[in-house]
Amino acid sequence: MTKEAVRLGTVQETLLIPLYGRALDAQARHSILKDTEALRMVEAIDYDFAKFRGPSLGGSVLRSAIFDGWVSRFLAEHPDGTVVELGAGLGTRSRRLDNGRARWFDLDLPDTVELRQRFLSDSERTTTLAASVLDTDWFETVAESGGPYFFVSEAVLLYFEEEQVRSVVQALADRFPGADLGFDTGGGSMMRNQERNPVFKAVDARMTWTCDDPKGLEGWGLRLRESRTFATPQPDVVRTWPRRHRYGMPLLARLIPPVINSYRMNLFTLEPGR
Ligand SMILES: C[S@@+](CC[C@H](N)C(=O)[O-])C[C@H]1O[C@@H](n2cnc3c(N)ncnc32)[C@H](O)[C@@H]1O
Repeated sequence: MTKEAVRLGTVQETLLIPLYGRALDAQARHSILKDTEALRMVEAIDYDFAKFRGPSLGGSVLRSAIFDGWVSRFLAEHPDGTVVELGAGLGTRSRRLDNGRARWFDLDLPDTVELRQRFLSDSERTTTLAASVLDTDWFETVAESGGPYFFVSEAVLLYFEEEQVRSVVQALADRFPGADLGFDTGGGSMMRNQERNPVFKAVDARMTWTCDDPKGLEGWGLRLRESRTFATPQPDVVRTWPRRHRYGMPLLARLIPPVINSYRMNLFTLEPGR
């Protein structure tokens, strides 16, 4: 079988890291996400995925599970709601969590979308948007669905400058007040450790935005509702994790607190004017 060649920009290439993490998880005896689509894509793409081996792969699975928990809860409360994935990469949340009624948008840059559309096609309720999260030209397409909205951005904003993140958040808050917004933040300890992390030896992209306290973002038009680490996931989410993560992460948090506690998954409500 001829494999699919990939030609991606520097940050865009990082989507292959969580993709590989989910593919390995799909093959595990105790799979958390059961993302068999990720496995299919890894097998079809011509790329040296093995260079990513290391702790980040498992971490990206745990991260997705925490965001899945929040999106699932949103869909239980709003089965006809709209979920917008900002920087979707080859993520399959719109397939994994679909309830047969929700509206899904998967937004990413044009080169990523070109790759994505080779594997994941749109449906009546699932739309891929080739756009930048830094622009607002896609807002009205999303707004046509009427909401309520859950915006989720995993491992994307970390690659921006703080002023860019702030303008993304404020534009979303102005246009979609009351919506949910989930994204991850990395503190100084995580940022400083990048050069020691095997995945960052394998790619050129570097995370730039440092945020030590997500509560401090509330002045941007956000209200922080939950902030979690790999050691403090939602109780219904941790039940799906193998014992080595369920008990291992709280232990690691005691042994190396700065490393575990500086990477946070956060759930906010957009509240302009705060
Ligand atoms: C580490 S990957 C994460 C992908 C996906 N969220 C996941 O967890 O599998 C970073 C993603 O951000 C996307 N990205 C980077 N800059 C972007 C921008 N300005 N607008 C939209 N997406 C962007 C990249 O194309 C890539 O898909």
